[in-house]
Amino acid sequence: MSNEEDVPVPETLVAGARAIVAARDTKTKTALAYKTARAWFQRKLAVGSTRLCGPMPDRPGRPDKPLLLPPRDMPKRKMGGAAGRIALIHSLAHIELNAVDLTWDLIGRFADVRLPRSYYDDWVRVGLEEAKHFSMLEDRLSRLDAAYGDMPAHDGLWEAAQDTGQDLAARLAIIPLVLEARGLDITPPMIEKARSLNDHETARCLEIIYRDEKNHVAFGAKWFRYLCDRQGIRPEPAFQQYVRRHFRGTLKPPFNDRARSEAGLTPGFYKPLAPLKG
Ligand SMILES: [Fe+2]
Ligand SMILES: [Fe+2]
Repeated sequence: MSNEEDVPVPETLVAGARAIVAARDTKTKTALAYKTARAWFQRKLAVGSTRLCGPMPDRPGRPDKPLLLPPRDMPKRKMGGAAGRIALIHSLAHIELNAVDLTWDLIGRFADVRLPRSYYDDWVRVGLEEAKHFSMLEDRLSRLDAAYGDMPAHDGLWEAAQDTGQDLAARLAIIPLVLEARGLDITPPMIEKARSLNDHETARCLEIIYRDEKNHVAFGAKWFRYLCDRQGIRPEPAFQQYVRRHFRGTLKPPFNDRARSEAGLTPGFYKPLAPLKG
């Protein structure tokens, strides 16, 4: 068990990011995320470089449990009943833990790309919020007499990142603008469902996540546009090219067009990638 006081202040932002991704224990991982974010916003850290502290890990550190399975081997879950509720929260916690690793990997892996300080401010905030989301769901599990690790989890999310390890624009296209944007589509119906089952605590957690994730997509759109602008290319066709190259499968409607547009992800980005209506 680690609290924020028990983990060291990193020497640089990149060294912090590297330690967060490498940490196996989830409490240590989140404590390091809080500590690194605090030091960054107190302006105590330079960005640093992986040339000084070593490369980012190929895979994130993970606890011994949960057992990680290919997505097709995951047991089907229903939200009704206590077991279904725990299974749903467990799967959301797993997604948030991946989001912690993906965000800090983004911060560390591309630190040699020339970017303004406000870029790091945005992504450190995201990295902090993902750690909070995971901790919040871990708490929710423990109040239901369960824990992260009690059931299997799927092992597909990190793969999306590995494929875009060489190209920051591709990484932004896939992680915030495809995967996190998908969260904007599916979270409001989940909130409704939790409310209809009188599970107001879970609904409240999901509302916090939904509010924060809108910002994560907005940061993705902002910095994706920034990189395209710097290269003098149009962002919509560039996005479509990256998704075709790096994302398996199609983008599934229905889309939450309003929330996506509020985040700067207008339909001209993603509608050409959706299957044609039959
Ligand atoms: Fe999150
Ligand atoms: Fe997020």
